[in-house]
Amino acid sequence: MCGIVGAVAQRNITPILLEGLKRLEYRGYDSCGVALHVDGKLQRSRSTSRVTELQAQIDQTGLAGFTGIAHTRWATHGVPSSANAHPHFSRERIALVHNGIIENHEELRTELSTAGYIFESQTDTEVIAHLIDHLYHGDLFEAVQQAVKRLSGAFAIAVFCRDEPHRVVGARLGSPLIVGVGKGENFIASDAMALAGTTDQIIYLEEGDVVDLQLQKCWIVDNQGKSVQREIRTVHAHSGAAELGPYRHYMQKEIFEQPRAIADTLENVTNIMPELFGDKAYGIFKEIDSVLILACGTSYYAGLTAKYWIESIAKIPVNVEIASEYRYRDSVPNPKSLVVTISQSGETADTLAALKHARNQGMLHTLTVCNVATSAMVRECELAYITHAGVEVGVASTKAFTTQLAALFLLALSLAQIKGRLNDEQEAGHIKAMRHLPVAISAVLALEPQIIAWAEQFAAKENALFLGRGLHYPIAMEGALKLKEISYIHAEAYPAGELKHGPLALVTKEMPVVTVAPNDTLIEKLKSNMQEVRARGGELYVFADADSHITASEGIHVIRLPEHYGLLSPILHTIPLQLLAYHTALARGTDVDKPRNLAKSVTVE
Ligand code: M6R
Repeated sequence: MCGIVGAVAQRNITPILLEGLKRLEYRGYDSCGVALHVDGKLQRSRSTSRVTELQAQIDQTGLAGFTGIAHTRWATHGVPSSANAHPHFSRERIALVHNGIIENHEELRTELSTAGYIFESQTDTEVIAHLIDHLYHGDLFEAVQQAVKRLSGAFAIAVFCRDEPHRVVGARLGSPLIVGVGKGENFIASDAMALAGTTDQIIYLEEGDVVDLQLQKCWIVDNQGKSVQREIRTVHAHSGAAELGPYRHYMQKEIFEQPRAIADTLENVTNIMPELFGDKAYGIFKEIDSVLILACGTSYYAGLTAKYWIESIAKIPVNVEIASEYRYRDSVPNPKSLVVTISQSGETADTLAALKHARNQGMLHTLTVCNVATSAMVRECELAYITHAGVEVGVASTKAFTTQLAALFLLALSLAQIKGRLNDEQEAGHIKAMRHLPVAISAVLALEPQIIAWAEQFAAKENALFLGRGLHYPIAMEGALKLKEISYIHAEAYPAGELKHGPLALVTKEMPVVTVAPNDTLIEKLKSNMQEVRARGGELYVFADADSHITASEGIHVIRLPEHYGLLSPILHTIPLQLLAYHTALARGTDVDKPRNLAKSVTVE
C-alpha cells in the first residue's frame, strides 16, 4: 500500500528517499515518485514502474537536493499513471504526498476549481496540495494546520514549499506517520522501516498531530493546535528487504521459516499464565464473560479458528467479525467482552477503525495479537501478544497466520485457566504439544515434492473448491484465499456439510475439491461428504493425517501428514495448503510475492 518518505537535511537526500521507497516496496504499489527542492524550484521524477526504474531516471537527470519527499502509490482514485503518481504539485509552489482517502475530495475539487486551480490528475490527493496552496500566506505549518481541518477521511501527508527551502510539514489522521529524529536533520515516513539505517530515533505521531520539521527543530501540535511533546523511542526496525537466501520467493522462504517462527513465538511459554498477554491480563481475563474478535483476511480466519478453541477449551462465548463490516453495523455492545484484534501489520485501517468503534461503544478491554511490536494496534490496545514471525514480505500471509494461531491457542488456554477449566495435567499436555510444533511442521514441509506434483495439475484449472469441517473449516477458507490471491484461480471454501445445500451443483470432473481431513471428531461425516463429491465425478485432493484412514483410489488423491495433532492440527494442515498455492502460482507464472492489485498492509479503508 502507499508509502511516504521525506527529509530535511544538509546533504543530498535523494539516496535516503530512494532507499526508503525500496524498503516500503514489499507493501505493494503501482507507481512511485520523488520531489526535491532544487535551486529555489520544485523538481520531481515519477514512474509507473518499479523504484529501480525511478532511480535510473533520477541517475540520468542528476536530481539532488537537501529537502524533499517521496512516495509509493497504490491506486485508489485514478488509474496507475505518471499524472496520478505522487508527489503532486500546486502552482509549482507546494509539493505533497498522501496516504489514505479523502472522502470530501469532490466538494473540495469544485471549490478549488472555482478558485482557479487546474487539476492535472484524477486523484483525491491533488485537492490537498491545492487546498494548502490556497491557504498559504508565507507559513507552511500554519497552512497545513488550516487545511487538515477541511479534510474528511483518512490521511497521512508530507508537504514542502518552494518558498521555505528547509522545512517539511507532516500531518496524520487515520493513517500512520512517524518522525525520524537525526542530528541537524529530520525525517518523516509512513513506517519506521523506511528509515532503517538512517535513524533509529522515532516519534510515533498521534491522531490529529501536525509536525513541523526543520534542520534543528521538530515541533508537534495536536488536533487542538496545542504544542505537544511526543516520546522519542529507539526502534530497531528491520529492513523490509530481508535476504532471500536459497529461496526463489519471499513467500517460499516464509513458508519454510515457520518452524523457527513458531518456536520464537512460543519461546517464553514455560507454563500457561495470563501475564503472557500483559501485566493487567489477570484482572481483565477474570472479569470478562465473552470475547469479540475483529480482523480482516487471513487474520480473520485465525479468529474463526480461535472461536472453536476458546469455546471448546475455555467455554467462553466468542463472536468473530470482519472488521470492515463490524465498524458500520449496529451491534449490541457488551462492556464485559474482551475485544481481540488480530493483525500481522498492526496498521490495517479497517481493524484499527473497528477497534476504535468497539471502544466508543464502551468495550474497553482490548487485546491484540500482532506481529509488529511498534504498530498502532499494539500502541492502542491494553494487552498484546507479539507473534515473533519476523518481517513478512510476501503479500500472502503465511508465517504470520500460523504464529497467530499459536498465540490464539495460548489465549484459549489462559482463559480456560482463569475460568478454572484447565487442570495441571491438561496444561502440561498442551505445552508439550506446542513445544513439538516446530518439529511437526518440519515433517509436513518435507511433503513438498508430493504437493508440487498436485500443483502441476491445479495450474491448468480455473476453479477449485476447498472443504473442511469444524476446526478445519477456517483452514479450508485460508487455503482457498491463498490459492486465489497468488494463482488467480477462483477458489471457494465450504463447510463440507453445506455442499448439498448448493455448491454441489458446481462439481464436475473439472472441479478439483481440496479436502482438509485430519482424524477429528467429524472425520466420518467428512468421508460421507467426500462420497457425495465422487458420485458427481469431482476429483478429491485430500490432506489426511496419520490416523484418518482414507486411502487413495480413482478420483481420490491423498497426501498424508505424518502425525495426528489433535486440537493443534489446524496449524499443521495450513502448511500443505500454502505450498499448494505457492507451487500452483509458480507453475502459472504469476508474481507470487506481489500479486496483482494487492498490497501487503491495507492502510486505507
Ligand atoms: O496485517 P493484517 O493481518 O491486519 O492484514 C489483514 C489482511 O489484509 C491480510 O491477512 C490479507 O488477507 C493477506 N494478503 C492474506 O494473505
